[in-house]
Amino acid sequence: MSINIVVRKPTAKEYNELRLSVQWPTYDENTVRCALQNTLYAVVAEDEPGLAIGMGRVLGDDAIYLHIQDVIVRPELQGKGIGKAIMNILMDYVHTRGSKNTNVGLMCSKGRESFYAGFGFIARPSEKFGAGMIRLLS
Ligand SMILES: CC(C)(COP(=O)(O)OP(=O)(O)OC[C@H]1O[C@@H](n2cnc3c(N)ncnc32)[C@H](O)[C@@H]1OP(=O)(O)O)[C@@H](O)C(=O)NCCC(=O)NCCS
Repeated sequence: MSINIVVRKPTAKEYNELRLSVQWPTYDENTVRCALQNTLYAVVAEDEPGLAIGMGRVLGDDAIYLHIQDVIVRPELQGKGIGKAIMNILMDYVHTRGSKNTNVGLMCSKGRESFYAGFGFIARPSEKFGAGMIRLLS
């Protein structure tokens, strides 16, 4: 099986389908379109041209704060190195845009810490950093 990591944004449909495949909440189409439009950089993993089986994107101010988001590989294709390939390209982008002390963040799903540790991310709280906080609007 040959997988291509294509530098492009997913369509709104692909975005919601990929989220649904890993049981994450989906959003209405206009919300997704807005989110994708405001995305700095995105990649889609394709196993056939135009057929999305994974994605990842980078959000932020493109200089000081960059955020990795929505790294997803369809469950039936996980564990084959696709997530790693997606992250490698996102990290290349981050290194291109960032400089010393650029803050690259991500919100890690429960149990996925070791996946990101491989790319140099550390878990919070740590000696230096607080836990980080989140609020989901109702
Ligand atoms: C997390 C995810 C993107 C990983 O993609 P993947 O294609 O299965 O990962 P890979 O096969 O490229 O594995 C890369 C490395 O991470 C490790 N890894 C993969 N999934 C992992 C998991 N769930 N927990 C911990 N480590 C994991 C692998 O063992 C591998 O390590 P190695 O390089 O030492 O062999 C995928 O499991 C996924 O889509 N999960 C659901 C959505 C999600 O939680 N995304 C992350 C948001 S924080």
